[in-house]
Amino acid sequence: MNFYGQVRRPAVVQGIMMARRMNHNHRGLMKWAMGRMDISSVKRMLDLGCGGGGPLSMLSKQAPDAKYVALDLSRDMLRMTCKVNCDLKDEQRLSPLWGSVSSLPFKDGSFDAVLACETTYFWPELGQDLKECRRVLSDDGRLFLVQETWDAPQWRERNESWQKGFRMTFHSLEGYRELLVRAGFQEITTFTEESEGWFVMIASPNERGN
Ligand SMILES: C[S@@+](CC[C@H](N)C(=O)[O-])C[C@H]1O[C@@H](n2cnc3c(N)ncnc32)[C@H](O)[C@@H]1O
Repeated sequence: MNFYGQVRRPAVVQGIMMARRMNHNHRGLMKWAMGRMDISSVKRMLDLGCGGGGPLSMLSKQAPDAKYVALDLSRDMLRMTCKVNCDLKDEQRLSPLWGSVSSLPFKDGSFDAVLACETTYFWPELGQDLKECRRVLSDDGRLFLVQETWDAPQWRERNESWQKGFRMTFHSLEGYRELLVRAGFQEITTFTEESEGWFVMIASPNERGN
């Protein structure tokens, strides 16, 4: 697998090095996003495309009572997530799960929070995959979409190089919003960080005042 493929689905030594980099590089994004998402009451969270487990290690400090399922297509990433979050693993609060976002092996309403940080660019069928997110969320649950870019004229040059290299797919903020509405989310709150091009969308199946 070449360098670019290691972002899409990190594996073996190169992938572990890439994930270390992502854990470091996504800290600023996650810190900013966490200032906008109150997760202190979360009890059961699903981290989709967990990668090297950096976002989870930050989030878990804010949700001390929660249990987590970390899902990824790469078994090496699951191993790394467990290592980086060995405290959660030791406390039996973390379950790693190999699989794809497209088919989640959970009953309806199993989680009160789903996190997708820097991963939807690679999902095979974003519209359908968001429906899966909705399905596994409880009616008062929330989906957190955290990303360091979206499709907009000011990011187009940067996005084009990522698109070519990493084969990432981007949508406009309105595009993500529409996909979320079609997936069954009613309340969608968006925060943007305009100088970096970051955003977090908090989507709930019902009006709950995110
Ligand atoms: C850019 S990394 C982000 C990792 C982590 N969330 C973070 O922010 O540091 C994208 C991750 O999504 C995973 N991924 C890509 N497509 C996936 C899919 N269809 N189902 C589950 N995981 C997927 C990759 O294996 C990779 O670990």
